[in-house]
Formats: sequence, C-alpha cells, structure tokens
Amino acid sequence: MRHQRSAQAAAARTGRRACVFVARYDTFVARCDTFVDEHDTFVDEHDTFVDEHDTFGARRDTAAAGSDARGAPRGADSAGRSREAMSAFSLSRGELHAERVPLATIAERFGTPCYVYSRAAIEARYDAFDGAFADLPHLVCYAVKANSNLAILDLLARRGAGFDIVSAGELARVVAAGGDPAKTVFSGVGKADSEMETALVAGIRCFNVESAAELDLLNAVAGRVGKRAPISIRVNPDVDPRTHPYIATGLKESKFGVAYNDAPALYRRAAGLAHVDVQGIDCHIGSQITDLAVYVEAARKMFALVDAIESEGAALRHIDLGGGLGIRYDDETTIDPAAYARAVRGLHGERSHELLFEPGRFLVGEAGLLLTRVLYLKPGDTRDFAIVDAAMNDLLRPALYAAWHPVEPVRPRAGDARRWQIVGPVCESADFLAHDRGLVIAAGDLLAVRAAGAYGFAMSSNYNSRPRPCEVVVDGDRVHLARPRERIADLFANESMLR
Ligand code: LLP
Repeated sequence: MRHQRSAQAAAARTGRRACVFVARYDTFVARCDTFVDEHDTFVDEHDTFVDEHDTFGARRDTAAAGSDARGAPRGADSAGRSREAMSAFSLSRGELHAERVPLATIAERFGTPCYVYSRAAIEARYDAFDGAFADLPHLVCYAVKANSNLAILDLLARRGAGFDIVSAGELARVVAAGGDPAKTVFSGVGKADSEMETALVAGIRCFNVESAAELDLLNAVAGRVGKRAPISIRVNPDVDPRTHPYIATGLKESKFGVAYNDAPALYRRAAGLAHVDVQGIDCHIGSQITDLAVYVEAARKMFALVDAIESEGAALRHIDLGGGLGIRYDDETTIDPAAYARAVRGLHGERSHELLFEPGRFLVGEAGLLLTRVLYLKPGDTRDFAIVDAAMNDLLRPALYAAWHPVEPVRPRAGDARRWQIVGPVCESADFLAHDRGLVIAAGDLLAVRAAGAYGFAMSSNYNSRPRPCEVVVDGDRVHLARPRERIADLFANESMLR
C-alpha cells in the first residue's frame, strides 16, 4: 500500500516535473521564436543599413563626379572640354585642392615630387566617353601606356573598361589589377614571340597585327601553343592627325600599321592561315588630336576598307578606331566625345560591327598633376630660374616634345609676377618643366604642374639616379598611396659588380 502510495506520489512528482519541463520547454521555444524574430528583424535592419550605405556611397560618388569642391556642376562644355576633370583640382579657401584634400597636406604627408590623381575625374572621363557611344555596340580599351598604375587600371576595370596593351609587362599589369584579358587588345609594331605566347595563353581579345611578318610569326606561335590567334590588322590610313610629329602615327611615313592599299591582300593571306582567326580591323592615327575632321577622315577611310574587305567574303566582327582624343593643356579646343560619337554613328550606319576605342590621355591626362616644391630662386641677368624638385626624369614631356603644361602655385600669393623658367635639378639644359611663366613665388612654395596624369609617371626614369616620385589617388577626402616614392636603395638593388 505504502509502496503503491509512494509510487503514485512519484508518478505525480514526475508528472509535475514533466509539466514543469514542458512549460519550460514551451518558454524556451517561445524565446527561440522571439530570438529568431529578433534575428530576422536585425538581418532586415542590417540589409536596410547596407542598402542605405550603398545609396549614400553612390550619391557621394555621383556628387564627387558631378560637382567640384564648391558644388558647381560638372560636365562637358560645348567646346568638348570636360570641366569635371579640371575642377577635380580647384582653389578653395585660398589653396589648390585635389577633390577635397589640400595639395599642401599631400605634400606634407608624402613629400614632393608627387603625382596626384583624382578618382572622380578619371571615372567622369571614362563615363563621358563610354556614355557617348552607349547606343552602339562598343568597348572602350584604355591605352595602358598613358598611366599604368594598378590603382588606375583597377578603377577603370571596375567601370567595365577593356585595355589596349603594347607589351607583356602591360598585360601583367592588367591581369594584376583584375582587368579582363578577354577585353584586352595587343597593339605595337614589335611584339616578341614570347609576348605573343603569353598573350595567347592569357586569352586576350585580339592582336592588332602591324605587318605581314608579324602575321606569319603569330600564326607559327599560335600553332606551337595549340591556339588560334584572334587578329585584326592595323591599317595605316595615311591621314595627317595635325599633332606633334613624334606622336603622329597614321601617316604613310610612319612605322605603324599596314599600308592602306595592302590591307585587302593581307586579309586574304590571313584567311589562309591555320592558326589565326580574323576578328576585326584597326587603326590609330596619332595622339593629342584636337580636330574632329581628322578622325572623320580616318573613320571614313576605315569603313570604306571594311566594305572592300567584306566584299571579298571576309566577315569582321569589330572595327577598332584607336585612341588619340586630345586634352586641354593650354587653350586648345578639344573634341567633345559626344560629337565624335555622332560622327562615328553617322558612318557606322546600319552596320552591326562592334566598335573598339583605345583612349589613353583623354581618360587620365587632366585627372593628374605633378606636385613639386621650389628649391631655389635664381634670378639672372637674362632669365629668372625657379629650380624645383621635379625634373625631366619625372615629367619628360616638356623636354621631349616641348610640351606646355599649366603651372600653378598651390597657395597663390599677392605681388608682382616675374617670368620664371621652371627647371629641375637634372644636368641638362633640356631639363625644364615650363618656360616663361608669370608667377609670384618664393623658395619653399609648392607648384602644381597640371594635366600630367597621362605620359607623366609612365615615361619617368631614374636618370641622374633620381628615385621616381610617389603616386597618390585622391577619392573625396581620402588619399590612397598608389605607389610609394622609390628609395635610394631601390636604384641599384638589382645591380651587381664583376667578381
Ligand atoms: N592606341 C595606340 C596603338 C597607341 O599607340 C596609343 C598611343 C594610344 C592608343 C593612346 O593614345 P592617346 O589616347 O593616349 O592619345 N608620349 C606621348 C604620347 C604617345 C602616344 C603613343 N601611343 C605624349 O606624352 O604625348
């Protein structure tokens, strides 16, 4: 009996415990549900936050691309000069800024000489060019030679750009920056067979073949590596680009491309080669072109040639019209990409060919400057010299082409201007950055050598055993060190003496 009672009591206890357990379990489940709800709410809030953050970022980028430091609207003016690139560097509170960063701050932090690029200006230029051709099938292949810093290649790759390369080194840079080899064309009159092989293995979009001999070698190399080389033939349309003779490439006398009248025969020959695959046709008539008529003449000749070649049975997928769009260094009237696009559209007509372009300078030239400091003033009997810490090894264009770059004080001073010869420390009389500039300057002042984003650092050297300058990219109020200043030790790190 006792036993029975205690068994009943035990059962009751167990039942109570079970009830308590079930109740606690239910509480637990309820709390779990609450937790899951709270978690879902948290995830939703987090997603909303991320969306808002992205929208904010996009708005900020648009604002940065669409307005200067003072909020003025940017855009291409009727003369084709994109104000956005120039206003990426503007005077604010008495001193020159790169986007929202005072150049003096950059000089303090990174030293001089220093190349400074504006992210907003590069992206705005890319968008202006790419957008102008939006209603035509096209690919903008940035000419890497203009400025091959990985930070710049990365920005453009992220924008969707393809690339125009002229060496295996440039291809390696494109790949390292995340660029797509399948959007990369390979130009140049002297491709080595090792470079052809590297580019074939990487799977580039097209080889712009510049001679019959190159075509044969490419065919042989492609056969050896078991690939078919996609090709276009670079044609020399014999058009005068009316630019500096050193950068004119589309005249008969130039080493570039295949003579216009020889092109159809070379296409016939290419059609008979087992390891090449004809994809398109190409031209590039020169650089710093400021006359739209020149482009129109070249494009007209190219479209006529396309018709002639296709009438013989070849099918071309693309027409590459090269690069060369000029920028404003001084008072040039430049070509508006929209006007260029209108002209090309008229010639393209009902064709379905994809258009390729290879702009370099237009995308990065005005988006960069060289920051330098005045070391000494040396007034003379006949000429007054301002000796600065940047030289022809840092910016070769003035010495090589007598190129004119704007020079501006970073903190303009009041006073009477003198005409200065802005020269560097290199031991050559060709070592000048600018002649006869009316400036009010003192030793220690910072100067900005403008429109130096293209063919500036890219053509720099270590002449006179000078370490090359650093490069920074400004993005709103952030400064990214894209390449540190070379150190003295870097100069001879790879050299060795005879044993
Ligand atoms: N495509 C080819 C095949 C080229 O040879 C060039 C430039 C370009 C495109 C890009 O041209 P751009 O759009 O940048 O004008 N060092 C000289 C410029 C040499 C240009 C050489 N080729 C300078 O500082 O003015």
